Amino acid sequence: YDTKVPLSNTGDKTSFAFISARDRWPIILTGAIDDLHKAVSHATDSEKLEEGKRITEGLAKLKYELQHDRQLTPLINDGKPDIKAYNRELEQRGDPKWFSVAWLYAECYLYRRMATLFSTSTHWKSYDVFSKQKASTFRSSRPAVLELAARYNQIVKELHDDKSALAEASEEQRTQTEKALFTEMCEICLWGNATDLSLLTNLSYEDIQKLQGSESRKANEEKILVNDFPAAFDCLEKAQQSGSKERRVDIVLDNAGFELFVDLVLAGYLLESGLATQIVLHPKNIPWFVSDVVPKDFADLLNMLLNAKHFYETPSEDEKASDKTPEPLSKQDEENLQSLFQNWSTLYAEGKILLRPNNFWTEGGSYWRLPAIAPELHQDLQDSELVIFKGDLNYRKLTGDAMWDPSTPFTEAIGPMGPGSGVRVLALRTCKADVVVGLPKGKDEELRGMEGGGGNSGCRKWAWSGKWAVVSFCDGKA
Ligand code: F6P
Ligand code: MG
Repeated sequence: YDTKVPLSNTGDKTSFAFISARDRWPIILTGAIDDLHKAVSHATDSEKLEEGKRITEGLAKLKYELQHDRQLTPLINDGKPDIKAYNRELEQRGDPKWFSVAWLYAECYLYRRMATLFSTSTHWKSYDVFSKQKASTFRSSRPAVLELAARYNQIVKELHDDKSALAEASEEQRTQTEKALFTEMCEICLWGNATDLSLLTNLSYEDIQKLQGSESRKANEEKILVNDFPAAFDCLEKAQQSGSKERRVDIVLDNAGFELFVDLVLAGYLLESGLATQIVLHPKNIPWFVSDVVPKDFADLLNMLLNAKHFYETPSEDEKASDKTPEPLSKQDEENLQSLFQNWSTLYAEGKILLRPNNFWTEGGSYWRLPAIAPELHQDLQDSELVIFKGDLNYRKLTGDAMWDPSTPFTEAIGPMGPGSGVRVLALRTCKADVVVGLPKGKDEELRGMEGGGGNSGCRKWAWSGKWAVVSFCDGKA
């Protein structure tokens, strides 16, 4: 089912695949080893301690094999059905080495292999080595979180106030306002994807905070190279006008923390405005690409909001070390976060926001395989008005992570998920990898010619930083 176009490969020295394998994965593994080492040192149960040490060794071994360009070894069987497929594919790929393997497969293998070390243990089964990092990055997004909480509450209030300008507007004006708000919420949701922990090795916290504020969002509109928001809005609006009672929107989630927060901003807006009646969120079942959402991250986020004062005012390790005290939350901010918590937890309790995990999302292949390999999931997604795929990895999986000519239409590059699939796909992606499609002819060359864009190096550097974005739509129901 895979595309015949050659795939991004870690052996290509001009690619971000190579840089990821050489520089980023060792850093990520080192972070995981450090985190676990700390957790193990706090273990009081001797069995748990021994087991924790063994897992640390397993992680160190993986890092050694990667850095010494060894072959990828078959995954140990942890009883989950995807292991067979991972190992079969490894064999089919000819037992590749770390620096000459399809990027997408190898990167998925990396996280799946880490997961087997934990899932085959007794005491560390549900331990997430990335959990602390996810929470602390969310905490450092405080200014943007507070700004958005205030904005969201204000919008919800206006939507329900029958004396507001919106309520008194004509049908036509109301649609225009709804469309503008939809675009604003989607843009918030898009740029929230720049905050991904696996890239923190490139972006500073300061860069991230800059990306998260509302002013930068406006300035960034021209950084959206393909912008299909209007088409996405049209399909939701048509569905609403058709009078149909059940109109679902799905979000295939990417990162926890700030990005999940903005996903909920969009989800809440769609429900409160009536553009959707139900939102289905698709998280991962194992810690994945560092910061991806696992179900517990959703609960953690709501808890952080509920206990916002405690969360923001308790000094972090770093703050303790440098004797800093975090600034207290203002009364207004506290109230805003409380209302947000009330709103979202009510939507969740009413079943209007649902979490629906599926093992398919952490398999080693691209979404070209989805209709054939995961027919039930495919059928489920067909019931949705719109399926929003968040982030870079989802985009790589949609396009098969292949080296398409960048002017290839998106509808062609997503293969079986394209026309005729019965699924309406909307990808919201800040570019953090080589693959990109749907650009006008000549655009890639133009971007390469800009400062830091890659020039004549043969590298598509502009597409690695998360500073450019593509929003691509395909109506698979048409
Ligand atoms: O390109 C860097 C990278 O870590 C890729 O490995 C991966 O596709 C992506 O970033 C993760 O980003 P996101 O969280 O947006 O999917
Ligand atoms: Mg991610």
